[in-house]
Amino acid sequence: MSTSGLFSEEHSAEVVAASFADTPDPRLRQVLTSLVQHLHAFVKDVELTEEEWAVAIDFLTRTGQLSDDVRQEFILLSDVLGVSMLVETINHRSGGTATESTVLGPFHVVESPPRALGDDIALDGKGTPCLVSGRVTGPGGEPLAGASVDVWQTNEDGFYDVQQPDVQPAGNLRGMFTVDGDGRFWFRSVVPRYYPIPDDGPVGQLLAATGRHPYRPAHLHVIVAAPGHRTVTTHVFVADSPYLDSDAVFGVKESLVREVPEVDDPARAAELGLTNPFRTLTVDLSLLRDDRVQPGAP
Ligand SMILES: [Fe+2]
Repeated sequence: MSTSGLFSEEHSAEVVAASFADTPDPRLRQVLTSLVQHLHAFVKDVELTEEEWAVAIDFLTRTGQLSDDVRQEFILLSDVLGVSMLVETINHRSGGTATESTVLGPFHVVESPPRALGDDIALDGKGTPCLVSGRVTGPGGEPLAGASVDVWQTNEDGFYDVQQPDVQPAGNLRGMFTVDGDGRFWFRSVVPRYYPIPDDGPVGQLLAATGRHPYRPAHLHVIVAAPGHRTVTTHVFVADSPYLDSDAVFGVKESLVREVPEVDDPARAAELGLTNPFRTLTVDLSLLRDDRVQPGAP
């Protein structure tokens, strides 16, 4: 028999990659072949010990065991390693006039309740009142009537509703809005707060062991979509928040940072149904046409 295909330290990657040579799906074959090459190069580079291998298996096992419908430890792991941002960046090299995108994050785990323009999404009435408004336009600045704006954010304590089911009402600080005929949207909320990503699990242990903090700067999550246009998943960051320059998940882009100025105008506040003074977050969102949409496709 020929022994050229047997496993050896020198040829480990080629031998294992060759085992995938007959994978029917060419993309799966490409991904697995590359994965094996990089994984073997990594193991050889650090000369992984058996103890370290066992720690890694235990770490990944616990990461999976902690993940469920509302806690996604694997997304967190991807986030703190910068992989989520890299995948996002590679897949949205749109440039041009489009609003830049950033990570989805692990808290879009429930559907945002449909709400009417002007609604108050702060169901518990706590926090610094804030009017959020903006306009959704296409590449030429044309209003995209009928676009949807899906938003979610933390409360003033830095927690999402799904993290505090016994404290916050379900759907608190979430909303799915449809813009008006001029592409405009507006709603009432509170100023989001910076927060630590959940750090009581394996990802938190990784951050602690490496001297990294778990904080993300204050932000509002937005998914904006319109028929025939590329959906943008992004954040709007609060300009006076700490951690803008050291986001634990590398999500900050300069174009997404907005001042959130205070307005002291009792008449305007009364008109909007906000307490005075209030703050305002204004963000215009621009989408590119989706050229990948086939004519006649639904
Ligand atoms: Fe977030």
